[in-house]
Amino acid sequence: MKIERFEMERYQSTWETTVEFNLADSGVHPITLAALVDHSWIREVLAREQLGYGHTNGSEELRTLIAGLYHAAGPEHVLVTTGAAEANFLITWALLDRSDEAVVMLPNYMQIPSLARAWGAETVSWWLRPVPGLMGPGTGLREPAQWGPDLEELERLVSPKTKAIFVCNPNNPTGAVLSVEAMNAVCAAAARVNAWVVADEVYRGAELDGHLTGSFWGRYSKVIVAGGLSKAYGLPGLRIGWIVAPHEVIQVLWGHHDYTTIAPSVLSDHLARVALGPRVFQRLATRTRLILNENLEAVARWVEGMGGLVDWIAPKAGAIAFLRYRPAVNSTELATQLRKAHDVLVVPGDHFQLDRHVRIGYGGEKRLLEEGLRRTGEFLRTL
Ligand SMILES: Cc1ncc(COP(=O)(O)O)c(C=O)c1O
Repeated sequence: MKIERFEMERYQSTWETTVEFNLADSGVHPITLAALVDHSWIREVLAREQLGYGHTNGSEELRTLIAGLYHAAGPEHVLVTTGAAEANFLITWALLDRSDEAVVMLPNYMQIPSLARAWGAETVSWWLRPVPGLMGPGTGLREPAQWGPDLEELERLVSPKTKAIFVCNPNNPTGAVLSVEAMNAVCAAAARVNAWVVADEVYRGAELDGHLTGSFWGRYSKVIVAGGLSKAYGLPGLRIGWIVAPHEVIQVLWGHHDYTTIAPSVLSDHLARVALGPRVFQRLATRTRLILNENLEAVARWVEGMGGLVDWIAPKAGAIAFLRYRPAVNSTELATQLRKAHDVLVVPGDHFQLDRHVRIGYGGEKRLLEEGLRRTGEFLRTL
């Protein structure tokens, strides 16, 4: 099996520790261990934990807490993985064969299309597109533009060869969130040809308005969901992700997991139970919403101050904003010059097959975000 280079991850891994202003990160500023548990808990609980393999599918308590995030799910519907990255790997590996077709929402975190092709499947692109805002009812005011799905196009793209429709919701890199009608239409399109719906929902919980995005789980019998603690909860270092799927699918995926990481780290399993406990979970969700709203305001002010050199469709969720810039420069070239001359890292739109855009992460420290944006603006004005 040959696999394409995962351009964005390679780029981030290569440069993120070398720059002072890292605007390429895609999650909310991570919390410390001390902000999650107190010292006595570490002494009394964590210090006594045996460093064994633990439950290789995740402890029953953790799987029960995860199941609680989904309608009518139980621990038997959950497999705990090492990040959402492993979840996506296992799902595509188990599901896709040579000559299968996978309809993939784009733009996207590009792990799934590359993996699908690595397993020998054909990928069919289904693009989100900027949709002008509708006139607000009775207000005479236009609502803001959105990244929207073309559901008629989806109908045309889904065929009897379609094994699965892969969506990323909330979306990386646009921060768009599908409406309930669009989610139901995706399920209906899959049902027409008996295909799976696979939803990467790792950004669920990072909504700016605090309304938890509905899950695909429970809308259709053949749904597989990937999720995790890396983005909305500021805990990427725990490397806790999960899959929610029908029980028989979980059993198959657990078998594949024997070949990848065997088990999540027991320490992370323990800490994830704390994070998903009702009190701490609420605290983390509130923290995320506050950081995102405050920082997005800073990005909005900056975009406004750029006098048309940059425009955007503001995200509804996630810690990332996808910006379009006016100067006629390739995005990889622009990002490289920005990094070299101004010590700022952004993700070039080329990594999402959308040149003349850059993705910025705005979930980090505000001071660094503002200075990173200031430098980016200064650079753009010279082009
Ligand atoms: C949409 C999406 N899915 C999966 C992942 C991988 O997440 P994790 O860090 O939990 O492995 C990312 C990371 O950026 C992502 O953006």
